[in-house]
Amino acid sequence: MSAPKRMIVTGVSSGIGWAIAAEALRLGWHVEGIGRNAPALLTAHPRGSFTSCDLSDRTAVNDLTLTTEQSYELTVLVNNAGTLGPVKPAKKVSWAEIDHCITLNTSSAMLLSAKFLREVAGEKQLYFTGSGAAEFAIEGWSAYCASKAAVHMYASVLAKEHPELRIHAFRPGKVHTPMQAEIRATTAEDFPGVGHFVEEFESGNLVLPETVAASLLHVIERKDEIPVIFSTSNYTV
Ligand SMILES: NC(=O)c1ccc[n+]([C@@H]2O[C@H](COP(=O)([O-])OP(=O)(O)OC[C@H]3O[C@@H](n4cnc5c(N)ncnc54)[C@H](OP(=O)(O)O)[C@@H]3O)[C@@H](O)[C@H]2O)c1
Repeated sequence: MSAPKRMIVTGVSSGIGWAIAAEALRLGWHVEGIGRNAPALLTAHPRGSFTSCDLSDRTAVNDLTLTTEQSYELTVLVNNAGTLGPVKPAKKVSWAEIDHCITLNTSSAMLLSAKFLREVAGEKQLYFTGSGAAEFAIEGWSAYCASKAAVHMYASVLAKEHPELRIHAFRPGKVHTPMQAEIRATTAEDFPGVGHFVEEFESGNLVLPETVAASLLHVIERKDEIPVIFSTSNYTV
């Protein structure tokens, strides 16, 4: 019998991370969630586990251990936990707001990835939940856009440093998650584009997190070359 596959996902209590964990479990993977709130999906499943960690806490991230005695056919890390951060004109954003958004969305994913590259042996792949906002400037989202642009570039650097590994950031599109609800709850004064996001929701145009998860698991199994930064909508199952 071949060794199982191991999936490590951050931010699994809701949205895209929850859906990735669910899809990986469905496909027979061992799934380890990392985040602040444990989902029953993982704690109640024989192939699931959860490590409690506030990923905006540098010491807590540093203390995580990714080594394991068990051998796996493949280990995948998906750096998915994230925050929308402050939504308001950049001139009103505080140091604490910038710090929290960049620490969680960028620095913590970088630190965990470095740990993953050092500590995890054998076949491995590394993914980041990126965003279209990394490449498209959105008024009112200065910290978020900057944090995700940094994530895309970080993934590109890692991919160059490790041509032997699959390393990617993916744009999931506008996904039906609590983060989209948070976007719709903002004001046009702070975020002039809020009306478009409300329209997209009301028109039923949001992508389901399950669709993003299925595309990601499909990409993980592919053997052909794909761009370092890709849209999951290009790899629908
Ligand atoms: N939804 C979209 O349209 C969209 C589009 C592009 C990119 N994304 C990206 O997709 C990723 C997932 O977001 P989502 O849309 O699925 O929203 P979500 O449902 O709000 O998920 C965010 C996840 O991050 C976790 N998280 C937040 N703060 C944390 C912290 N300090 N420490 C550990 N975990 C923390 C949350 O868990 P806890 O609160 O339980 O800790 C939650 O599981 C994010 O990186 C987001 O930027 C989303």
